[in-house]
Amino acid sequence: MRTLFVTGGAGFIGSEFIRQAIGNYRIINYDKLTYAGNLDNLASVAGNPGYSLVVGDVCDANAVAAALPEDCDGIVHFAAESHVDRSILSAEEFVRTNVLGTQVMLDVARHRKVKRFLHISTDEVGGDMPPNGWFQEDDALRPNSPYAASKTAAEHFVRAAARTFGIDTVITRTSNNYGPYQFPEKLLPLAISNALEDRPIPVYGDGLQIRDWVHVTDNCRALVAVFERGRAGETYHIGGGHPMPNIDVLKLLLKTLSKPESLLTSVTDRLGHDRRYAVDFTRTTRELGWRPEIPFDEGLRATVDWYRTNAEWVRRCRSGEYRAYYENMYGEREATARSL
Ligand code: NAD
Ligand code: TYD
Repeated sequence: MRTLFVTGGAGFIGSEFIRQAIGNYRIINYDKLTYAGNLDNLASVAGNPGYSLVVGDVCDANAVAAALPEDCDGIVHFAAESHVDRSILSAEEFVRTNVLGTQVMLDVARHRKVKRFLHISTDEVGGDMPPNGWFQEDDALRPNSPYAASKTAAEHFVRAAARTFGIDTVITRTSNNYGPYQFPEKLLPLAISNALEDRPIPVYGDGLQIRDWVHVTDNCRALVAVFERGRAGETYHIGGGHPMPNIDVLKLLLKTLSKPESLLTSVTDRLGHDRRYAVDFTRTTRELGWRPEIPFDEGLRATVDWYRTNAEWVRRCRSGEYRAYYENMYGEREATARSL
């Protein structure tokens, strides 16, 4: 069986990737377990003999090298600070993890001759799309938030490593993911969990910002396809195909939940807020045969059901209990990682 070294596998997308891939790969999950890393997300694979966890920081080359197996078939690099609002409050950790961490991972991959490096990027590197514009893989990158700037810099290091050192790299740029296990600071899990408790849902500015939602299961199917069959040095877009204004998404959500629109509460807009993202994923469909399969209304209904059924998961996220759980189990190792 092939071995994958997954960074950031305890987060929202990385954990779905591991749940999907574990039957076909041996997986080492290398994760610092920041506030976004939640081992509850991996309860279903924790006892699998093909799965192991190493708590560590992607910026620590020695720790990465020590955790990387000799026979590594690929690195799938999810680890990142991922929330735009946090990057506006302070960008320092975004530069450290997203830029330095990516460069460290590339260095280790090169020295250890890892066969393939899949770098997980975002549609946000393309910046605002004009009303009828669709972001193409080879367009110039125009990031507008500190988060997007850090992800853009990371992509440039991936590109440079492929060109300079001949590393086999592939980059994916995904639009907004949604689905189970998403930390309730992002729009949909925040809105669902607030609505379930009849609490107000913050709508930034006029709510007419457009995002293209793709279900995390569809996204991870695409990631597997790109890892296995993507062309070396290439970039692949992954999207849902139906960009929607935030306000329409939230109204659909409230309808699904049979909750009143009066829960929608206008708040001050995010600084520098991008108005529209829309990725063209024609290349991914043409070359890899991938397309999104979960229609947004169905995926949203299933996601709502998941959050309703897993109220305990949300409660543990909000109370911070999910951290106490792994601090008890991995306290010493995590303390080491954190002091670096
Ligand atoms: P997340 O915030 O849920 O998880 C990030 C994970 O990375 C956590 O497990 C965290 O503990 C780990 N991590 C953070 N810093 C680390 C470090 N220094 N060393 C090791 N591990 C560290 O993020 P997500 O939503 O699952 O996103 C995963 C990737 O996909 C990110 O690279 C993000 O930029 C990208 N992406 C996300 C979306 C989205 O909609 N969520 C869309 C496009 C691209
Ligand atoms: P978010 O989930 O933070 O993802 P991103 O900023 O990476 O696209 O936000 C999605 C959209 O929803 C974005 O336009 C900002 C907006 N938003 C709100 O209107 N209210 C909220 O409480 C949050 C978190 C986001």
